[in-house]
Amino acid sequence: MSTVKRIGILTSGGDAPGMNAAIRAVTRGAISNGMSVKGIYRGYKGLITGEIEDFRTQHVSNIIQRGGTVLKTARCDEFKTPEGRRQAYDRLVEQGIDALVVIGGDGTLTGARIFAQEFNYPVVGLPGTIDNDLFGTDVTIGYDTALNTILECVDKIRDTASSHDRLFFIEVMGRDAGFLALNGAIASGAEAAIIPEISMETDQLAEMIDKGLRKTKNSSIVLVAESEITGGAMGVAERVKKEYPQFDVRVSILGHLQRGGAPSAQDRILATRMGIAAIEALLDDQRNVMTGIQNEEIVYVPFAKAIKNDKPINRELLKVLRISSI
Ligand code: F6P
Repeated sequence: MSTVKRIGILTSGGDAPGMNAAIRAVTRGAISNGMSVKGIYRGYKGLITGEIEDFRTQHVSNIIQRGGTVLKTARCDEFKTPEGRRQAYDRLVEQGIDALVVIGGDGTLTGARIFAQEFNYPVVGLPGTIDNDLFGTDVTIGYDTALNTILECVDKIRDTASSHDRLFFIEVMGRDAGFLALNGAIASGAEAAIIPEISMETDQLAEMIDKGLRKTKNSSIVLVAESEITGGAMGVAERVKKEYPQFDVRVSILGHLQRGGAPSAQDRILATRMGIAAIEALLDDQRNVMTGIQNEEIVYVPFAKAIKNDKPINRELLKVLRISSI
């Protein structure tokens, strides 16, 4: 039998579409199990400064369809220090909060893991990031919506690319992961993707040019994952201008567009399932785990595993892109 009577919930790091659906599910899951809920604003920052409010079921009405996070979010340097974490712990004790549910990406879960260990405090995490870079879950909350936003943008860029016979490098987010670029390229019918995961083993640009751009078309679209390793779209385009001056090159950086917008059906369902699962984990006395989804089933992944391991790119997708873009 769980001893958790009051939970705190926060979102931290970069926002992701579906975070509101997760906040709603966690809140309602907790209340329906007799727990009370405190909403903590601006992530770990608000936990330290005490920006905390009682959350009832009506606080989460009418938010499932909204992008961003009603709890706001922040990246917090103080929480990286022992003093900051001690202040956060004192706030939790002061507010009578027995367990934390945190929604965020790699940085959020790293902070959660250290905090949970330091104070022997129960924390459950939900993977909320458009980057899809957390190990132990097939997908993260926000990834599907961001992918769909990318498709919308690429479809539009294709109109102008083909009218001008241009080669476009479109930069997508992902921090150091190429999931958005690779799957975005497959789904948008792009000619290639340049991703960090294979940058050390292949010269993806040279390979693409050697293969010859699509014979049936004079324009081409290449999705480039942002990263120091790939050089980003600007870096790749600079190289093309020097080494392959015959191409009329343009760059488009999609940027924070990818983080906004109403969550897709898939993200809303995923976030709702994971939110309920987070409460079930606490009821079950599970500690310091991230909820994940594998083959459509909810799983619990220890923080250490989710953070430490790099999530591998499915190599079959590289082949699929290569063949489908001949
Ligand atoms: O982790 C999500 C993400 O959008 C990354 O893809 C990107 O590198 C980063 O956040 C951008 O962060 P910020 O909004 O703080 O500039």
